[in-house]
Amino acid sequence: MMQVKVLYFGLIHDLTGVAEQRVEIPEGESVEGLWRECSKRFPRLEEIAGALLCAVNQEVAERSKPLCDGDEVAFMPPVSGGASEDFFRLTREPIPTAELARGLKAAQDGGVVVFEGIVRDHSHNRRTLYLEYEAYEPMAVLKMEEIGREAKHQFEIDRLGIIHRLGRLEIGETSVAIFVTAAHRRAAFEACHYAIDRLKQTVPIWKKEYFEDGVVWAEGDKGSVIDEGRLMVEPESREESEIGERNPSSVLDLAGTGRAPIRKGQYSDYLATAIEIAREAGALLADLFQQPHEITYKRRSDLLTEADRRSEALIVERLRSRYPGHALVAEEGSHHEADSDFCWYVDPLDGTTNFAHGFPIFCVTLGLALRGEVVAGVVYDPIREELFTAEKGSGAYLNQQRLSVSKVAQLSESLVATGFPPFATNHDLNIEFYFRFTQLSHGIRRAGSAALDLCSVAAGRFDGFWELKLNPWDKAAGSLLVTEAGGRVTDILGKPFKLLGDDVFASNGQVHEQMVEVFSEVMARRVH
Ligand code: IPD
Ligand code: CA
Ligand code: CA
Repeated sequence: MMQVKVLYFGLIHDLTGVAEQRVEIPEGESVEGLWRECSKRFPRLEEIAGALLCAVNQEVAERSKPLCDGDEVAFMPPVSGGASEDFFRLTREPIPTAELARGLKAAQDGGVVVFEGIVRDHSHNRRTLYLEYEAYEPMAVLKMEEIGREAKHQFEIDRLGIIHRLGRLEIGETSVAIFVTAAHRRAAFEACHYAIDRLKQTVPIWKKEYFEDGVVWAEGDKGSVIDEGRLMVEPESREESEIGERNPSSVLDLAGTGRAPIRKGQYSDYLATAIEIAREAGALLADLFQQPHEITYKRRSDLLTEADRRSEALIVERLRSRYPGHALVAEEGSHHEADSDFCWYVDPLDGTTNFAHGFPIFCVTLGLALRGEVVAGVVYDPIREELFTAEKGSGAYLNQQRLSVSKVAQLSESLVATGFPPFATNHDLNIEFYFRFTQLSHGIRRAGSAALDLCSVAAGRFDGFWELKLNPWDKAAGSLLVTEAGGRVTDILGKPFKLLGDDVFASNGQVHEQMVEVFSEVMARRVH
């Protein structure tokens, strides 16, 4: 016989009336056998037998796990109503996928999506015998937590768990499992997919693959493919799995800067061109900023400088020669109609008034829309050398560092921003919004460049930004940055955003409804 220490938590503690006890069981007995023994002593335990989490020596364990003399076994109750927590773990024990999934489920969830990466028996026509995983452990956990935070920003999910196995793994064993619960399945699937992709890009875990005829570290063999991802509901295709694995080490963020390479997507070439052009135009603006300006007026208070014109000429020339078939609209009058689904929206200098007065907040911005939907965008601030980029479906970045909107959940704790058209009057409704939000928030900024204001929402510097009369070139790139950073973009009443519409309201998502309520109240008061 052997003796183990048993710990009871939560409801189980209530049912047994004791928090811990020593139990004698036969040598080699499993967790399941121990549970049966405990249930004999406390018959009420049968009531919850189906949904129970077990841990052996503080590692989550399967019920089939054999026990040793002196082990500490914890029985934890089933979870409902959000009692369970997100988790981010490394383990050297087999991953108890079903138990972990069961532990995360809660009454408010409509589903749980589980991704399991498993060790495949071959790679590039070589037979794999087994694998070894190694990690820089504290950093790996921090990186997993970061992925959890990012996913929660971007998708409407409830809870998320990531667990990765270390040490030796045999063929068919689970190397990584990701769990996402959500009210709606779509968000859960998307967040799960996102989390596994990010894990492979940023978490410092390495694998050594033992073949019949040699050993390779995965990063030393770029084509090495180890796991075949398996989504619980539907198997992931082999092809997809290989794309995700193709070059793990080259995208690993070992410096811990949080920088991840911009993922290549469908519109990456357009984005790369837009970045190149924006940098060139930005350098021109920075140069001209140091020199005296020629200022003319488009109308009262609506300034135009030589910099607007020269920047636009440069951008239009580059875009037209690169994409002669694409349509183009730029603020200072360049217009090219084309029988194309693609249209570029260009503001060669956003923040002209600032520029003309020597106030160093301005940028150049290019957005590419496909049938009216923005798919790529860049905003470049040449003074701070801040390059904001976004591609539909691939995230938003500042100088290649992934952006996430802020987490501020209360308007009363928010910093918000707005802008006024150059021809604003005292009767402008926005002055009333400005007044009200000044009372209700930490404050309002009116920095003078709508494109940069939107980027500030994407970067979590502002919690919300709105403006009532903006042109598509002011908001094309910035609106994509916000949504790709996990924020929300609508009109001021919360209706779907229209690129060609007048108003725009972007926020971190959390304060969105509160702000829509204020817009509506102010408007209602004005009408009556
Ligand atoms: C202006 C800026 C400003 C906004 C105005 C825009 P411009 O663009 O974005 O912040 O409030 O509505 O017209 O004229 O400097 O390109
Ligand atoms: Ca503008
Ligand atoms: Ca402009």
